[in-house]
Amino acid sequence: MEKLEGIIFDLDGVITDTAEFHYLAWKKLADKFGIEIDRDFNETLKGVSRTDSLERILAYGGRSADFDAKEKAEMAEWKNDVYKEMIEAIQPSDILPGIESFLKELKEAGIRTAIASASKNAEMILCSLGIRDQFDYVVDAAKITKSKPDPEVFLKALELLGLSAEVCIGVEDAASGVDAIKDAKMRAVGIGSIDILGRADLVLASTADLQLEQLRNIGN
Ligand code: BG6
Ligand code: MG
Repeated sequence: MEKLEGIIFDLDGVITDTAEFHYLAWKKLADKFGIEIDRDFNETLKGVSRTDSLERILAYGGRSADFDAKEKAEMAEWKNDVYKEMIEAIQPSDILPGIESFLKELKEAGIRTAIASASKNAEMILCSLGIRDQFDYVVDAAKITKSKPDPEVFLKALELLGLSAEVCIGVEDAASGVDAIKDAKMRAVGIGSIDILGRADLVLASTADLQLEQLRNIGN
């Protein structure tokens, strides 16, 4: 690829393992309404906004028409309260393996960084992890109108960084996120399983495997 100048990271499941808590909180809500969700179904929720996730769960359980807008808003708020209680004690030791040293390496190499997250809790989580100031920009749910797989969140991050898609890489743990990165015309690195993240240019099993030199060579 052209000279690497920026890396845009997803937050939940890439910087810290909040993806697991999103799943557990949604499962608790779904259980309450007699809808059974499992980890396979959860893959379709990753990267998807809170309101869209709720709609997907209700549709999956055949209950979309059973609730009005007010009830749905209450359900989404209930899930968020459960989720926030689960992540209350989140701290710097919850940063996923290799991320801190990778960020340091990027800074030393002059590579700019941003967060592209569908979460309304992104700023709070980054502050609790103590790494908010490690990123040049944070684009979260408050700054976008369309959920991943729409590329909007990555395009907004590119715009703020002042960089073109050709010189940037996006890092994601969700299939919807990889789609968003590819549709923003960037190179994508997936963290997780190749079966789920097959559209990425490179799939790594863990954040501990992130290596700057390998990323520089994607597409060469
Ligand atoms: C994404 C997560 O980052 O944020 C989704 O992958 C989550 O699982 C979405 O639903 C919205 O998060 P929040 O914190 O605004 O409910
Ligand atoms: Mg994610």
